[in-house]
Amino acid sequence: MKFFIDTANLDQIKEMQDLGIIDGVTTNPTLLSKEGAEPIEQLKKICEIVDGPISAEVVGLKTEEMVKEARELAKIAPNIVIKIPMTRDGIKAVKILESEGIKTNVTLVFSQNQVLIAAKAGASYISPFIGRLMDDGQDEIDMLWETMDIIKAYNFKSELIVASVRNSRHVIEAAKMGAHIATIPFNVLEKMFKHPRTDQGLDAFLKDWEKLQAQLKK
Ligand code: E4P
Repeated sequence: MKFFIDTANLDQIKEMQDLGIIDGVTTNPTLLSKEGAEPIEQLKKICEIVDGPISAEVVGLKTEEMVKEARELAKIAPNIVIKIPMTRDGIKAVKILESEGIKTNVTLVFSQNQVLIAAKAGASYISPFIGRLMDDGQDEIDMLWETMDIIKAYNFKSELIVASVRNSRHVIEAAKMGAHIATIPFNVLEKMFKHPRTDQGLDAFLKDWEKLQAQLKK
């Protein structure tokens, strides 16, 4: 399973990249606006840190606008993937861009039907937003299982990016069903490292070791 980091923050990306655990990055207009930097420059810097796929989202709503923006974004680096919203115009843009060899990530996906359409359009990646479904009181895990079943049943080329991840349980659920990728916020990645028993165990080992050293000196 691949881990992407869901942020446009360079420090967070560098920290997880240094740990060697991330395979790509997803950004969106909200995440880029949090950084306050010029978006193209920020995306260039991200591409210099991580070799894997880096998602950059279009903001136009019409197919022609999306395609024009996507062609410009794709010039930033060869690993740029274009995030396209799950709309009719978006799906048309996906077909055009994929036929030109520009990889797309269909975003703002909330239903199995939307997954099916994005897969049929030939998207390289599809991002169901499970956290937002959970916020709405829907069964996000069930939706994800059915989504994976659909992708597998027809051997669609699209890879699933489990997005809008809210907690480490979401990552486990995604892994259990064999999702290709989870895009995970920094705070969740940090929590995935931790377990109180690891800290307690380490503390006890070190104390016992010191005890032994003290005994040997006597
Ligand atoms: C995915 O690519 C999106 O950037 C992201 O996961 C959205 O998550 P949110 O619901 O936390 O904004």
